Amino acid sequence: MDTGAVDVVSTSSGIAQIITEEKGENVIVVAPGANAQLTFSYLEKHLALIRSSSIVLTQLEIPLETVDYLAAVTRKENIPLVLDPAPAQPLPSSLLKGVEWLTPNESETCSLLGLESQDVPADAMKEIAEILLQRGSRNVLLKLGKRGCYLALADGRRVFVPAYTFAPLTRPQPAMPSTVPLLQRCSKVMIPFDVLCGPPLSPPFPSLAKALNRPCRLRRKSVHS
Ligand SMILES: Nc1ncnc2c1ncn2[C@@H]1O[C@H](COP(=O)(O)OP(=O)(O)OP(=O)(O)O)[C@@H](O)[C@H]1O
Ligand SMILES: [Mg+2]
Repeated sequence: MDTGAVDVVSTSSGIAQIITEEKGENVIVVAPGANAQLTFSYLEKHLALIRSSSIVLTQLEIPLETVDYLAAVTRKENIPLVLDPAPAQPLPSSLLKGVEWLTPNESETCSLLGLESQDVPADAMKEIAEILLQRGSRNVLLKLGKRGCYLALADGRRVFVPAYTFAPLTRPQPAMPSTVPLLQRCSKVMIPFDVLCGPPLSPPFPSLAKALNRPCRLRRKSVHS
């Protein structure tokens, strides 16, 4: 990992306490600390790095204005922006229009839509994904806990990918552990879609590495409006 763009500021580090509740879902309490100081002026210092990126992944533990600025930059530069919208909060369409992949879990999905529920009913996932597409994100990846995930892609494809079945872990997991492999898989899937639609990859993912070595085209062809 290249930490060359990491600055030191005179405040405490951001802290997220992650606990796993009895059903195996994680619950996260965030104290933003230094994350709150990640302003757009910091991004301005590192524009060259952002512009040289093939893909940019962010979430909402930094100020919303910074995420907004990042979305504007990546959109202008035609770089796919992946937004994992955690911690959950309503987002303006102006931001969502700059997002290539929106990857909410169930509670985040409900927050985005202003719903009180914390769960996405199975019969509502398609409709919900369509609403999020209409709000501006080019692709939507709904993370549905033990059910798996539902993808609504810019080119019209709609796919439900069931999860593996396994016992809940008692060890708390860091934020976004599933997003990166999911998107690595999905990014490849933008071209070889069969990787996603094929039979489930078996833990401990021997074939995932193979799948991820496939040629990948990350930059999208045109900027959406
Ligand atoms: N109990 C489970 N059994 C199998 N797979 C699961 C289980 N829980 C989560 N997953 C897988 O992990 C993905 C992400 O989990 P979840 O929907 O809970 O979001 P999340 O906890 O916010 O993830 P992240 O920590 O990556 O942000 C799910 O879409 C599913 O593929
Ligand atoms: Mg998450």
